[in-house]
Amino acid sequence: MRSAYGRTIPREDVSLTHVGPGTPMGEMMRRYWQPLLPEAELGDGLPKKVRILGEDLVAFKDKTGRVGVLDLHCPHRGTSLEFGRIEREGLRCCYHGWLMRADGKVVEMPCEKPGYAERMDVWQPAYPVHRFGGMVFVYMGPPDKMPLFPMYDIIDTRYRDDIELRAMRLWDDHSIGFVRDCNWLQAYDNVVDAFHLIQLHAANSGDQFGSVVTSAGRPDIGFEKTTIGVRYRMFRDLPNGNRLQRYAEVIPVNAYLVPSIHEQGTEAKERAKASELSWVVPVDDTQVRGLSLVCWPLENGRPVAGWKPGTDTITSIRPGNLRERPYEDKQRRPDDMEAQESQRSIAVHALENLALSDTGVVLMRKMLKDGLKAIEQGEDPPNIVRDPAQNHRIETHAWNTVIAPARDAAE
Ligand code: FES
Ligand SMILES: [Fe+2]
Repeated sequence: MRSAYGRTIPREDVSLTHVGPGTPMGEMMRRYWQPLLPEAELGDGLPKKVRILGEDLVAFKDKTGRVGVLDLHCPHRGTSLEFGRIEREGLRCCYHGWLMRADGKVVEMPCEKPGYAERMDVWQPAYPVHRFGGMVFVYMGPPDKMPLFPMYDIIDTRYRDDIELRAMRLWDDHSIGFVRDCNWLQAYDNVVDAFHLIQLHAANSGDQFGSVVTSAGRPDIGFEKTTIGVRYRMFRDLPNGNRLQRYAEVIPVNAYLVPSIHEQGTEAKERAKASELSWVVPVDDTQVRGLSLVCWPLENGRPVAGWKPGTDTITSIRPGNLRERPYEDKQRRPDDMEAQESQRSIAVHALENLALSDTGVVLMRKMLKDGLKAIEQGEDPPNIVRDPAQNHRIETHAWNTVIAPARDAAE
């Protein structure tokens, strides 16, 4: 026995886990366009308070259609702008009526004499906004380092007319698998943690997917770097004689691709790529949310009704809203929420004993650390795109292939 008495708990790996302004990872996260919220959520004429990377912001769409993302607290005396009123020209603070444009300029101070607002020239801190696929993205980094929004192949609608993009919260205010109350990196580690699929989601808790991703025996699993990130591969022979070849990929800093978790393995398919690009978005150091750009399939130009995104985790055997489950049920059949949130609010890497099965996690964290080093040396972290000529159909590497030898032979 090694007594637990007198042990000390080391600090978390601050450089990878903390995301506030001025922290290393906070700086790295701020070098990328981050999804803030689906634009449709601004359609009700009310401003939205959003916390992201430890900062409180307000997002709104003025009556001319411009979207603004501003510091939450009014530059007059600090009232939250979530209680403001949206007008043609901008957002008006409820307290004394200062009116702020989408770019942050205060253009009216109704309690002051005419001309006073012009003379004071107050600007509310604001962030640049990029609207794409129905999502509002925000760039919170140094203005001179702003990259292009990267056009990965699955979302590059300039080259495909078989889908329409939809900005979605597939897991409400949680991230994939209904994980929310922990550090962002736990949720991101999980994407390249292929082994938890067969252990947590099948062997431990009973089949939680109802697909050949988790069931059907022990697969052959491996990990590798790609041109844009790290992926796992999972190969398995299926009971029906087919063979599954599956890859899921993280695209640092915090994007990822998971192909359909509902794969049944019955029909042959070649590289059925992930149907959505998702992000693990840090709310702050101890909370996370997920946002996705979903490639909704079209048939004869119309969105296919009743289709389900590949990582929509709500099924009859996994009904969602897992936070409200009775504690005993959580203990008997834990899910991603229990596994990841209980790693501590911020997992302590110094206490981990990483094994061979964690190779994906190791490769991914190394890529993040290399990104931090690059920034320190004045260079760009990975996946920063600046050349418009290169920003076309950037190749991604996450898919399900199903090989059906019997039918292939017959054909
Ligand atoms: S606090 Fe906002 S206008 Fe006075
Ligand atoms: Fe999971």
